[in-house]
Amino acid sequence: MDHFAYRDGVLYAEDIPLPRIAEEIGTPVYVYSRATLERHAQVFRDALADIPRKHIAFAIKCNPNLGVLRVLARQGYGADVVSGGELERAIASGMAPEDIVFSGVGKTRAELALGLDRGIGQFNIEHEPEGVALAEIAARKEMTAQAVLRVNPDVDAGTHAKISTGKAENKFGVGIDVAPEIFDRLARLPGLKLRGIALHIGSQLTSLDPLEAAFVRVGRLIADLRAAGHDITHVDLGGGLGVPYKEGDNPPSPADYGAMVARVTRDWDVTLMFEPGRVIAGNAGVLLTEVLWVKPGAQSDFVIVDAAMNDLARPALYDAWHDFQAVRPSGETMTASIVGPVCETGDTFARDRVIDKVAAGDLAVFRTAGAYGATMASTYNSRSLVPEVLVDGDRYIVVADRIAAGTIMAAERVPDWID
Ligand code: LLP
Repeated sequence: MDHFAYRDGVLYAEDIPLPRIAEEIGTPVYVYSRATLERHAQVFRDALADIPRKHIAFAIKCNPNLGVLRVLARQGYGADVVSGGELERAIASGMAPEDIVFSGVGKTRAELALGLDRGIGQFNIEHEPEGVALAEIAARKEMTAQAVLRVNPDVDAGTHAKISTGKAENKFGVGIDVAPEIFDRLARLPGLKLRGIALHIGSQLTSLDPLEAAFVRVGRLIADLRAAGHDITHVDLGGGLGVPYKEGDNPPSPADYGAMVARVTRDWDVTLMFEPGRVIAGNAGVLLTEVLWVKPGAQSDFVIVDAAMNDLARPALYDAWHDFQAVRPSGETMTASIVGPVCETGDTFARDRVIDKVAAGDLAVFRTAGAYGATMASTYNSRSLVPEVLVDGDRYIVVADRIAAGTIMAAERVPDWID
């Protein structure tokens, strides 16, 4: 459930009519709903009610906006971060360092040191040399890094190939078959408290089966590690739960997910950690755009909007579907391809789709854009960096300014040695 709904024929975010934001801030602009973020945070937490010891770390890569992070921090969420930049954001948003988990397949030594200096709660080690480096850096600082070893359980998550992470051929984690020996060696290093296991098999998962298969494998690994004398107190189950993007999508609910997790992990006797991203933020945001032109095409009309692939990359990158809705629908429909102004055919949001009938000057939204939307934006074609707005009841605030193309140009220089 979300808080974007029509009132008297106009689309609102909570109590704010979207035309007001378009008029005052301009388009394209991302609009987030605080009430929706809070609701999703609560629903996910409630779904885990049967799990005695748990920690929820929002995967901030999906929406690292400081305002959004503050909302989730107030919900008791920590952060799953994958870079020094994300780490600093999580702390700046008011999250406690000990609630931060540092994932990421290519952490630098400087980032490992930063994590230690900031006092984060856990490092998710991706492979043996990273663990060795972390131990060395920690020992030199006379600190102990709390860490878990990420394993690759070799399951097919059944999602888009570009966002699948748990198959043997993917770059993430260590093979579950070699995990015991690597764990053994890392656990002996001073500077490291290796306390458990992490996994994450992919994103936008629409079936619980691959997750369950992966968790069962990890359960066996925990038993083996304990039999070898290791103290296993933490298991990080990652994120990945899918969300509905269009009518008919029926991903497992957080409650189904929580029930499965509770059943499979019943005897594990560990603190379970979770890294949800999309399920919290996806449906809490829309990308508000204006129709620039409607142009006849060979197969169907082109609706050219002022948002483009640089603002919302998912359709171009993954052929992802985002619902397109007029802000003031007339009730009529049209068949059209929705495209942006960028000079690539890939700058296409929808092909030959039946949509609300729109004309030049009309406002529309792409739904389910709160996760992996603004955070993946670029300035390609020297377009401005898209701004973000957070709505809270009948007030809203710009939580990220539009960065003008000129501001970005001002950070560049022409060498004076080129005549
Ligand atoms: N934990 C780890 C280690 C991850 O790599 C990810 C996502 C998550 C948690 C959160 O997954 P979620 O709950 O959001 O599914 N840009 C792509 C998605 C990339 C996901 C990367 N990892 C997209 O737009 O679909």
